[in-house]
Amino acid sequence: MLESDFHRGRRLRMSPGVRTLVRENEIRPADLVMPYFVAETDDPGFRKPIGSMPGQFQLSLDQLEQQVAGAVANGLNSVLLFGIPKVKDELGSQAYADEGIVQEAVRRLKDRFPELVVITDVCLCEYTSHGHCGIVQKGGEILNDPTLELLAKSALSHVRAGADMVAPSDMMDGRVLAIREALDDGGFVSAPIMSYAVKYASAFYGPFREAAESTPTFGDRKTHQMDPANSREALREAAADLDEGADILMVKPGLPYLDVIRQLRDSFEAPIAAYNVSGEYSMVKAAAQNGWVDEERMVMEIMTSFKRAGTDIIITYHAEDVLRWLNR
Ligand code: PBG
Ligand code: ZN
Repeated sequence: MLESDFHRGRRLRMSPGVRTLVRENEIRPADLVMPYFVAETDDPGFRKPIGSMPGQFQLSLDQLEQQVAGAVANGLNSVLLFGIPKVKDELGSQAYADEGIVQEAVRRLKDRFPELVVITDVCLCEYTSHGHCGIVQKGGEILNDPTLELLAKSALSHVRAGADMVAPSDMMDGRVLAIREALDDGGFVSAPIMSYAVKYASAFYGPFREAAESTPTFGDRKTHQMDPANSREALREAAADLDEGADILMVKPGLPYLDVIRQLRDSFEAPIAAYNVSGEYSMVKAAAQNGWVDEERMVMEIMTSFKRAGTDIIITYHAEDVLRWLNR
């Protein structure tokens, strides 16, 4: 057999320069969205470590501003905000209060960093006393249609405060349409919606619920979040959200659902975001803290896998670290 008769794939792997030359996918700083947890507190300087997410904190407004300043200096383009209110009630009223913590955080960040893309998570679970994403009926059922109005009010209040984009994560049916109508009626036809279109009922959200203090006091989220066994259903959800007016489709979690990202990429033209969620972050951090893995290499490989699967936007708690590594 002649040498030229078989494929010599190694030819293009022999030097860093050639490997770079033929590299198919790359992380751009602007691909990254960093999530932050902002807490309503009278204590300036409040910076509470989240035990299950090493390196992540609940932050007061001033601490948030300081943290974001450092990240922006490193090239951070976008943030995703979650609020932890002082008081919770049955209807999650702080989610749509004009002086709510997320609304204040948006005003603060847009004032200091006008160029920063500020995205807000729209849901009720951080704001309700029962920890559910919607209005709960006696007996425990989460009511769909009555919840839509509260979600739409929340989204509108975020955009009124200056948010560049809203990201509904509740998984109620029809929420994208309800939010689109509320934004349009409010005069915000240009504010995009990044829909958590394909959101699975996942064990990977565990650490987030500690971070956001949003664990449901009873039951689970399986009547609205998707069954991890399904992927045809993901296409159905994505199509419905696009019809309702979603501008960006999100898949969540990320890593265990790369196949779903690829299917969406091949089926739709809209930008696709992957949410590399809390449990994915915590797995890497725990292994790295034990010295079992090389954190930087592992994280960059994970980020690259999102791009390879067809992701445009990566929402990740590793964003600040990745920016630092890319800048080196
Ligand atoms: C709220 C919300 C959750 C996440 C984002 N928005 C939690 C949940 O649905 O229980 C998860 C994010 C993460 O795990 O990093 N609906
Ligand atoms: Zn929720």
